[in-house]
Amino acid sequence: MSIQSVRRMESSDIPQVYRIACSALDQCYARGLFGFLMFQWSRGQLVSCDMFGEVTGFICGTLLRDDLASISLFAVDAAHRREGAGTALLEAFAAACARQGCRMMQLEVRLENESTRGFYRRRGFTDTELLTDFYTDHGNAVRMIRSTDQPS
Ligand SMILES: CC(C)(COP(=O)(O)OP(=O)(O)OC[C@H]1O[C@@H](n2cnc3c(N)ncnc32)[C@H](O)[C@@H]1OP(=O)(O)O)[C@@H](O)C(=O)NCCC(=O)NCCS
Repeated sequence: MSIQSVRRMESSDIPQVYRIACSALDQCYARGLFGFLMFQWSRGQLVSCDMFGEVTGFICGTLLRDDLASISLFAVDAAHRREGAGTALLEAFAAACARQGCRMMQLEVRLENESTRGFYRRRGFTDTELLTDFYTDHGNAVRMIRSTDQPS
């Protein structure tokens, strides 16, 4: 059994977060993006850690409006999946949003990524919109939305 805790992202976490992003996500992001995200909304950037304090995953959010947050980047290291880190990150993010009065959160996921869409559906997200040509490789996405005060 693995214990996953969640805390706010710090600058010193960025190398590990960037490593996970490069290996787990199918688009490339500039390393400087993470510092920028922390600067623009520090409480919306979270990491999960194992019992030794090693970063196992992260979630990066953007506040689109006072009442709507977007989950921009979200990944767990492949070696630490199915240990609860993803769910813990998602719920900690929802709680952080709710604490500052932000009631809804949304995300985009590849249309073909049925397993991840199922992960979100089981945690209360519903499809709201099909976004054609959303990714740089012209792939399509589905936008999903959920209330921040609805625990999974
Ligand atoms: C989507 C993602 C973040 C989920 O992270 P995760 O840490 O594996 O998530 P969890 O461990 O909380 O949950 C995953 C599954 O493992 C199960 N699980 C959790 N703890 C478990 C345990 N100790 N033993 C067995 N199964 C467990 C969960 O129940 C869940 O299954 P369910 O959805 O049928 O309920 C991860 O798969 C990932 O990084 N994918 C690649 C990047 C990606 O797709 N990002 C999202 C872009 S939109």
